[in-house]
Amino acid sequence: MPRPIQALIHPDALAHNLARARAQVPDARLWAVVKANAYGHGIERVFDGLRSADGFALLDLAEAQRLRALDWRGPILLLEGAFEPRDLELCSRLDLWHVVHNTQQIDWLAQHKTHTPHRVFLKMNSGMNRLGFTPAAFRSAWARLNALPQVDEISLMTHFSDADGERGVAHQVAAFEDATRDLPGERSLSNSAALLRHATIKTDWVRAGIMSYGSAPDHPQHAAAYWDLQPAMTLRSRLIGTQSLQAGDTVGYGSRFTASGPLRIGIVACGYADGYPRHCDSGTPILVDGVRCATVGRVSMDMLAVDLTPVPTAQPGSEVTLWGRGPRGQVLPIDEVAAAAGTIGYELMCAVTARVPVDVA
Ligand SMILES: Cc1ncc(COP(=O)(O)O)c(C=O)c1O
Repeated sequence: MPRPIQALIHPDALAHNLARARAQVPDARLWAVVKANAYGHGIERVFDGLRSADGFALLDLAEAQRLRALDWRGPILLLEGAFEPRDLELCSRLDLWHVVHNTQQIDWLAQHKTHTPHRVFLKMNSGMNRLGFTPAAFRSAWARLNALPQVDEISLMTHFSDADGERGVAHQVAAFEDATRDLPGERSLSNSAALLRHATIKTDWVRAGIMSYGSAPDHPQHAAAYWDLQPAMTLRSRLIGTQSLQAGDTVGYGSRFTASGPLRIGIVACGYADGYPRHCDSGTPILVDGVRCATVGRVSMDMLAVDLTPVPTAQPGSEVTLWGRGPRGQVLPIDEVAAAAGTIGYELMCAVTARVPVDVA
């Protein structure tokens, strides 16, 4: 029998979350962001749930090819554009729209031989200081692109650094609007946090990533339930053993947890080699038979331990929910587990390892 760990992808949740994005910005078109193999969920597995999107945004040409292989004929946007000149050949062949964020990419386009001009998204660095032309350099980049026969339509884009937090987006929106005021073309500004928290930003296209997968971009200020998002991934396993401890007994490597009295614990077939974060300390939430419990001791490679006090009926074989949907619809948000590990839901969903079998619910 295989190890009982399994990840489950929920297409109904993906469709629900995408509908939430639409309801939030009904006048905008929606990119479903599926980079990093759909944030670890698997492009092929999320495709049905997200197919009502107006387009898919990602980074890897190989992932774009996988989308075309699924017979997706609509827009695909390469969020970082070409990494080398020959990428443009595939853009021509697969009709991929691509971001242009530096002058080298404009040079490559100028030398690219194509019969069909490309749709490009010219990216402004409005304050994130990652990719893009500064506001001062933006206009001349636009003019260069506009003069190229290889370029069809130019859309304008920027990305927010603080849409999820206190600093907000106003300074970046102002920089973007000032520098683009009289330039034609569609605009793409908002990511999940921006479209949830700053829904009135003027934008023709939004880029919904994390919210599509049911994680709150601004956790812990808001939980996924606050935004009415549903988990698109469940990581579940089973108890494979139990132990009865006495006061003074310790659990796991480094004896990081000491029982203060009699305590029954369960051993779960899940460890950091499955992608569960080793940084989760005792007290990380976990469901056993749908009942909320807490982990004890250090996470090891293949196992972790859980305090079974809230669920005395638990036995080897009992279902354990590491995150996502419990057996009777209870929800353990991935964001809570991520917070216990000092990270964010994004990282956990991307980190589930290859040895974990994944099914579509
Ligand atoms: C350029 C760009 N747009 C959109 C997104 C989606 O962001 P989120 O997952 O926070 O919605 C990302 C993700 O990092 C991105 O890099």
